Amino acid sequence: MTTATKSDKDRVVIFDTTLRDGEQCPGATMTHEEKLEVASLLDEMGVDIIEAGFPIASEGDFAAVHEIAKRSKNAVICGLSRAAPKDIDRCAEAIKPAARRRIHTFLSTSPVHMKYKLQKEPHEVYEMVIAQVTRARNHTDDVEWSSEDGTRTEHDFLCRCVEAAIKAGATTINIPDTVGYTTPEEYAALFRMVRERVPNADKAVFSVHCHDDLGMAVANSLAGVMGGARQIECTINGIGERAGNAALEEVVMAIQTRNDVLPYWTNIDATMLTRASKLVSAATSFPVQYNKAIVGRNAFAHESGIHQDGMLKNTQTYEIMTPESVGVKQTSLVMGKHSGRHAFVHKLEELGYKLGANQLEDAFTRFKALADRKKHIYDEDIEALVDEEIATAQD
Ligand code: KIV
Ligand code: ZN
Repeated sequence: MTTATKSDKDRVVIFDTTLRDGEQCPGATMTHEEKLEVASLLDEMGVDIIEAGFPIASEGDFAAVHEIAKRSKNAVICGLSRAAPKDIDRCAEAIKPAARRRIHTFLSTSPVHMKYKLQKEPHEVYEMVIAQVTRARNHTDDVEWSSEDGTRTEHDFLCRCVEAAIKAGATTINIPDTVGYTTPEEYAALFRMVRERVPNADKAVFSVHCHDDLGMAVANSLAGVMGGARQIECTINGIGERAGNAALEEVVMAIQTRNDVLPYWTNIDATMLTRASKLVSAATSFPVQYNKAIVGRNAFAHESGIHQDGMLKNTQTYEIMTPESVGVKQTSLVMGKHSGRHAFVHKLEELGYKLGANQLEDAFTRFKALADRKKHIYDEDIEALVDEEIATAQD
């Protein structure tokens, strides 16, 4: 989309929670220094809101949020808090140094969470919503309220809580799919329903927050936006509780690549996505799966002969975005048993070889035989094979 066509109503705010929901998953703990490095990159790449941590959770979390708040240049710095007054006050203290700061306070609203987790009646939860948002508003005028387990919440009660939260001063309303249970159509309809039924809905920005238990976090997030939400909560590489959260790089590139059907825009510099993915992977020691969309090492790699042939003729045959657009230097044509003659000749040219027709045919046959035996074919393998072919021909 060109700058001229960007309008505020189509702007989707990117709320990154890599340092909070992402770090919360088993094994993803980051050191203080690593968190500062990740936050700095998120800030540089255009993330609008950085959820830097859960300050009441530990001294370490508090210190990281506090330091990130001191250093942030552009992004709003956000901390998470439960409904308890001491949580909210601790969160406010942690984010204080930030030029722009947000308190994100949440409370469960689904029957199963209210009954077993909170052990409270709905009318008590309703009063707590008002109290938590009011307390947070005493610290900052940027307050987000989340109805935890929102997608399994009874609709009338959800609408009453959302209305009360907005009345108490919440400026962002997040309806999370905490357990990754919803589907795209259902989630879009939920946002339409809430925005239609809540009388003061236009006073708040609605937000999606999706978990990936059924592998639908990104699709659900985008559907929520189509239902009227304008903030996406996501993490780099999709790390997060259990199966993870919606992946930032995927929602950003879906909007950028399919702008015809997703007519929105974000402030993210997509050319920094690969760098961010590598940094988070190194900081958490979570490897990125090879076939991960956008940032997996195979995302711009082709081995099959048919695909390589197509790519050599026109890259749009098998790529819907350029590698450069997400910060990858170039497409790679991986040589293997599926590669065809066209890609083999291209590789030889790259390596500086020009063979006659017969030599080429022999070398290609040898290459195919080698590829059947060997999983990874390196440039050195091809060089050795061709050198041998040339030497044999000279004998
Ligand atoms: O998944 C969830 O419901 C959360 C909330 C704290 C927003 O992470
Ligand atoms: Zn979550």
